[in-house]
Amino acid sequence: MYDLSEDPLSPSVFEYLQQQETKSLLRFLTCGSVDDGKSTLIGRLLYDTKRVFEDQLTALESDSKRHGTTGDDIDFALLVDGLEAEREQGITIDVAYRFFATEKRKFIVADTPGHDEYTRNMATGASTADLAILLIDARQGILPQTRRHSLIASMLGIRNVVLAVNKIDLVEYDETVFHQIVSDYSKLSASLELATILSIPMSARFGDNVIRRSPNTPWYIGPTLLQHLETVAVDNDYLDKAFRFPVQYISRPDLNFRGFAGQVASGKIAVGDPVVVAKSGMLSYIREIVTMDGTFVEAREGQAVTIVLADQVDVSRGDMLVAPDNRPEVADQFQARIIWFDINPLIPGSSYTLRTECESVTANITSLKHSIDVNTFAHTAAKSLAINEFGVCNLSLHVPIAFDAYKDNRFTGNFILIDRFTNATVGAGMIDFPLRRAQNIHLQALDVSKRSRSELMHQKPAVLWFTGLSGSGKSTIANNLEKILHANGRHTILLDGDNVRLGLNRDLGFTDADRVENIRRVAEVAKLMTHAGLIVIVSFIAPFRSERRLARELMEPGEFVEIFVDTPLEECVRRDPKGLYSRALAGGITNFTGIDSTYEPPEKPDIQLKTLDAGPVELAMEIHDFLKARAFIQ
Ligand code: ADX
Repeated sequence: MYDLSEDPLSPSVFEYLQQQETKSLLRFLTCGSVDDGKSTLIGRLLYDTKRVFEDQLTALESDSKRHGTTGDDIDFALLVDGLEAEREQGITIDVAYRFFATEKRKFIVADTPGHDEYTRNMATGASTADLAILLIDARQGILPQTRRHSLIASMLGIRNVVLAVNKIDLVEYDETVFHQIVSDYSKLSASLELATILSIPMSARFGDNVIRRSPNTPWYIGPTLLQHLETVAVDNDYLDKAFRFPVQYISRPDLNFRGFAGQVASGKIAVGDPVVVAKSGMLSYIREIVTMDGTFVEAREGQAVTIVLADQVDVSRGDMLVAPDNRPEVADQFQARIIWFDINPLIPGSSYTLRTECESVTANITSLKHSIDVNTFAHTAAKSLAINEFGVCNLSLHVPIAFDAYKDNRFTGNFILIDRFTNATVGAGMIDFPLRRAQNIHLQALDVSKRSRSELMHQKPAVLWFTGLSGSGKSTIANNLEKILHANGRHTILLDGDNVRLGLNRDLGFTDADRVENIRRVAEVAKLMTHAGLIVIVSFIAPFRSERRLARELMEPGEFVEIFVDTPLEECVRRDPKGLYSRALAGGITNFTGIDSTYEPPEKPDIQLKTLDAGPVELAMEIHDFLKARAFIQ
């Protein structure tokens, strides 16, 4: 490593860095409603601790004249609200991280926005924070935002809160206003498991009790904000935690070198120490720790390094190297707390991409155990989670991942959920514990295989999945297809929406959640039937892309054939074979597909049948030809 102490020109730089190195670090975030003064407070902290550089100050003074909301004074909010777009709207829209230091401590602060729809950013900013400063406008007292942000902070594992009762100057530094807010907050926060709550009367704009004790609040005897930030004890020592090293990529510059690159999430490791590959349990030893600055004997929490192992063990991207005596959980089912960001609600049964520090897998929400009421923090039964709602879910993954409980390790215990079509981040999660019931169930190997069954039948199993509007002609074409296949000696089964809903799925209705579950069950049944060697014909509306994709992914590659029965809605309404459209249009049936419930047409179906141009027998023959061409049947 480059040693600064050997550089004759920079002893002071070296001393400075050494000083910084030994200081403890406090990560905190500010939250509260719009206009509570978050940005002003951060600006004030940065300014008064003298971390603002001269040129930034000059720019700030001229900016204040152009955009500022504080007359001729310097507008501290402008110091923090970096983006031009934000200035124009007069709001802060993304998480901004700032670094500053005092004699006693180093600080990283995340400035997060206060709007309802920005819960997402708050969750992002808070996931590494040790302390939250909750700003409250003294004139307004506790608002729904205060509750929401307290709940998010607590869910994210933040145990220390500063209640900054700001704009105290605007209530004439009135002690009773302050005490009322403090008492309201203590009722609200009673169930949040916070370790410390300190309430401070404050004016970020004039600096009262931020850095300096205010002569205007002689009745307040507690510390100033900075004194508290400098001294509050927080449990953020990730160095003492078990060694966790999520492998971000495999570095193979040449045949002689194979290293695992990533960032130490927690703990430390030295050359010669044993490590285990979390998922396979393979043991090896650290041979070398390589960085941009040369080789190290030790790597610790937060450092980005490349690790070389003593043996050629199998490690791939997404694996985790861990301490052998303190291993993470490895499971494909767990319970987690979820914060939902998306306009489309979370629905049990639906699937998303789940991303951890280094892994990306398909996850299914198997059940929503309850939601958490933002106002009372009570647990309530729920069928779905709407935007900005919180809940506790069970999740099932397509493959196991390695993780820790969030309460033990925030880096290896958190994840985000991503919509598989739009790629938007739709939620954040904190893992509670693996579900043991999954661990006690193991796949039983069966001696009569799918292959031997299908060989006996001289056919390749397939799932021919018909999707389309009600009345589009799915069942009629499917029925004709089955007749043709049957006449040719093929072994088939037809699963029809209406029929299955009379039996297996008779407990399900037509809400989005019920349709998701309807498709999930039928897909599982279809899969079982492919094991019997059958050609399975499925005829369900199956209105949602993500469930059709889930069905495809359940089957073996190439086995699933998506058949889009493409009939325009007007034509279905005109045909109306069961009289359901006329009833739905008259308001007699709710949640009717195409009327007041969505149908998402397939983007790339394997077969698209235009029923306006051809009759059901002709279209069934088209599918038959497709099956021959793809060698499903001879
Ligand atoms: S799906 O959307 O969950 O895939 P499914 O194919 O099982 O639907 O069932 C659709 C059939 O149920 C329709 O063909 C129709 O006969 C009947 N049905 C009754 N109510 C509705 C409704 N609200 N929306 C759609 N179909 C309905």
